[in-house]
Amino acid sequence: MEVVSLDHPLITDLVSQLRDKTTKPHRFREAVRKLSTLLFYEAARDLKTETVEIETPLMKTDGVRVSEKVGLVPILRAGLGMADGILQLLPEAQVWHLGLYRDEKTLEAISYYNKLSGAHPVEVAFVLDPMIATGGTAIRTVQTLEEWGVKRIKLIGLLASKVGLKELQEKHPNTQIYVCAVDPELNEDGYIVPGLGDAGDRQFGTYWGKEAV
Ligand code: URA
Repeated sequence: MEVVSLDHPLITDLVSQLRDKTTKPHRFREAVRKLSTLLFYEAARDLKTETVEIETPLMKTDGVRVSEKVGLVPILRAGLGMADGILQLLPEAQVWHLGLYRDEKTLEAISYYNKLSGAHPVEVAFVLDPMIATGGTAIRTVQTLEEWGVKRIKLIGLLASKVGLKELQEKHPNTQIYVCAVDPELNEDGYIVPGLGDAGDRQFGTYWGKEAV
């Protein structure tokens, strides 16, 4: 399935704010929230709707509302900042957190939090994973959601690397992917370059004196 990379002046302006290492955490969070909302607007275009009867102050008419059970799946911790803006657009969406971290040496995605088991799966899941670097976290997450029984899965990310996208598309060809930009490569530590550094540290200000990567 194709990757949708949003090419729009408002997006590129906000992405440049994220990339700029002088951007402070509060402005970084704000840009993440705005970009996630814009990405979701595009990714939600084909949500199923139903007609409902409503009444304007003047007369009865037909209204339309989203009829699918939607789940947002923010990947802890960097995906957390992506959920808020989307919930403003679709307050009825359920939020299912998954915790995964990257082993610093092997870059393998390790799961540490998952409460999906036993719950009834949503009809369409939007994975909120800001950085698709090696693609390992996204691949593991999509697999987890498929095992849970989700039939339609879409992934929303801020930045992706070419290699990460290729891996993800090979492993999960039916997952639709929406990102703001695709960067050419990864460095030896598995960071996207030019990238924006560590999306979690940049949002939450946890660099402890080191550079914001
Ligand atoms: N995770 C991040 O936060 N940044 C990267 O560049 C890669 C993975």
